[in-house]
Amino acid sequence: MSAPNEILIVGAGVAGLYTALKLAPRPVTIITARPVGKGGATPWAQGGLAAAVGPNDTPNLHFADTMQAGAGLVDPEAASILADGGPDAVEDLLHFGVAFDVDENGALKVGREAAHCRDRIVHATGDQAGAAIMDALVKAARASKHITILERIVVEDLLVDDNGTVGGALVFDVDAGERAVFDAGQTILATGGLGGLYAVTTNPTPAQGHGLAFAARAGAIIRDPEFVQFHPTALDIGADPAPLATEALRGEGAKLVNKDGRPFMVDYHKAGDLAPRDIVARAVETEIRSGRGACLDARESIGKAFPTAFPTVFASCQAVGINPQTELMPVAPAAHYHMGGVLTDLNGKASVDGLWAVGEVASTGVHGANRLASNSLLEAIVFGARIADQLRDAEITVPNDAGAPGDRMDLESKPADKNAMMRLRQAMSTGCALVRDDESINKVLSVIHELNEHKAMTSGLKSALVTAELIAQGALMREESRGGHYRSDYPDTEDEAFHTEICTTDSYENG
Ligand code: SIN
Repeated sequence: MSAPNEILIVGAGVAGLYTALKLAPRPVTIITARPVGKGGATPWAQGGLAAAVGPNDTPNLHFADTMQAGAGLVDPEAASILADGGPDAVEDLLHFGVAFDVDENGALKVGREAAHCRDRIVHATGDQAGAAIMDALVKAARASKHITILERIVVEDLLVDDNGTVGGALVFDVDAGERAVFDAGQTILATGGLGGLYAVTTNPTPAQGHGLAFAARAGAIIRDPEFVQFHPTALDIGADPAPLATEALRGEGAKLVNKDGRPFMVDYHKAGDLAPRDIVARAVETEIRSGRGACLDARESIGKAFPTAFPTVFASCQAVGINPQTELMPVAPAAHYHMGGVLTDLNGKASVDGLWAVGEVASTGVHGANRLASNSLLEAIVFGARIADQLRDAEITVPNDAGAPGDRMDLESKPADKNAMMRLRQAMSTGCALVRDDESINKVLSVIHELNEHKAMTSGLKSALVTAELIAQGALMREESRGGHYRSDYPDTEDEAFHTEICTTDSYENG
């Protein structure tokens, strides 16, 4: 048993670290499964951070693009908070030492990405914004006396008292080799996304949506879990995870072409290569399935500048002998971002007391059915600060009688069995993919039910199965196509947009 914590943050990516920093001077403990900065998706973020800081841009225009991309499901109040918060977020990150790229006059360089009407993505060292932000926040957090960071602590579940209030976490301490309990007055989930539930993903494989499972088991409402965003251009080079070829490449003029070099996005949307992400992803998939293939062509548009402008993509290409200055890059869609998540209010509070969610694990309402590119880092910053504003001076009582759901203690404290996990990932990539239908989703549910009987059930596998089931259930419930969710058996979009909300406490208590 660790000392009781007033505030516990689970996860040490941009969302967790930034929230902790903004809580100053209130003491906060961050627990993280991997060494800080070594796991998680933040350092992999290439595109950058969207903010209305460029010429002729305004938060109102950013708001309008965010609303438009979200296909009817963005909460206008949340989107307005997000867009208005952009310029201050950039300013604050500069203050933390993030070296965003600037032009020869010292002005921030802003780039274009799909479905943005203005150049508004700030970058760092070309395609390394996530890593630059992480470096700065890790340094700041390590230097902050109010933050305690505990590494190699794997959360298995949340603790919930008899009134349904979350009171901390049940964990496995890897170095001590034993379970432990972290009591906490307020628990903030900053656990990131779930691309690792798919066989083809741009996310680190351990990003398997465990936080969503914890929240669901604690009785929190999960909103719109079916909305998984597939990035249109992961490098199709047989690597797992699939390296991202950032959308900023198309922002700089790279074109999607077939194997024979014919540009194809003009056939699908008037915005061509800069059409909304879901449309580009389905176009790429269609071209691949038709046998024509899909590649990115940056030879003319970026050419010699490639190694300095996009060092991360260049290194991924080089590793497999592709020179993007002179050759096409084969691409395919890959699971990239979860738009659904733990339902929160505009201050990041979940639907059960004692629980908050920030970053990809949260559903604040800013992404709707299709996230606008590079809004995710911004969301973590803007809503992390709002959580901190709520909790910094709040009166917090630390409970000491919260328990974990009973069946947890019977499970082994181990990562998921690799074979079982691969079975699940392949099922998800086939059945809950970019295009799904009733039959394909039900096949995924059968695999999940079968794996639920797995003889070596571990804590990690259990959580992955819970989250995969939430996605599949949401996908079945949504009998329409909208944004990132495309049902071939329901290709039309309902006139009236609606949210899927799932509260699963009963079924999981019974299961
Ligand atoms: C990208 O660089 O294309 C990804 C950016 C994002 O997902 O927001």
